[in-house]
Amino acid sequence: MHAEGMVLRQQYVCGTPHAGVPHDRIGTRPANYVMRLAAGVMCLIAVPLIVFGANEGNGKLYEVRDGNKVDEQTLQGWKTWRALACERCHGAQQEGLVGPALVESMKVLTKEQFHEVIMNGRPEKGMPPFNTSQMVTKNWEGLYAYLKGRSNGDIQPGRLSPLE
Ligand code: HEC
Repeated sequence: MHAEGMVLRQQYVCGTPHAGVPHDRIGTRPANYVMRLAAGVMCLIAVPLIVFGANEGNGKLYEVRDGNKVDEQTLQGWKTWRALACERCHGAQQEGLVGPALVESMKVLTKEQFHEVIMNGRPEKGMPPFNTSQMVTKNWEGLYAYLKGRSNGDIQPGRLSPLE
């Protein structure tokens, strides 16, 4: 995941032709080589800065603006919540219904415990297992991030849209 992102970003940043040197002047004077070299060196410095400044790199679980715009992973987590209709038992605002209030549960559950209960459920207590749902196995970390954001009060209940 991370390495992929790095390659993509690198292409984006360093793929800019000749890094701002006017095209007709490239190679006409030695000074241009210096500028191109300088641009290349700047790329080497800038790319790690950009990559590690991004969401995955700084250890943040989720990114949210205005309470309802979130990063892609968290957005997929919310979509999973909606698609699997968790609200049927946990309430549209995670306030609890037949299932517990997840705004409270998420304050005490570890990520591992969350994963365990989502995958295997607690069938004898009314929580179904979701390990057969591809959407859940793919997006459970986003779902975790979304519910943590709700529990922390950073993410509002209801509809979310992407950042940017
Ligand atoms: C059919 C009702 C039902 C559905 C649907 C359901 N849950 Fe649950 N869930 C429960 C019940 C009941 C419990 C409490 C089990 C217990 O007492 O230990 C629970 C427990 C949990 C817990 C553990 C809470 C704690 O405090 O230990 C989490 C996390 C959770 N559910 C998340 C989800 C998510 C996410 C979804 C959707 C993918 C979902 N649930 C769908 C009924 C449901």
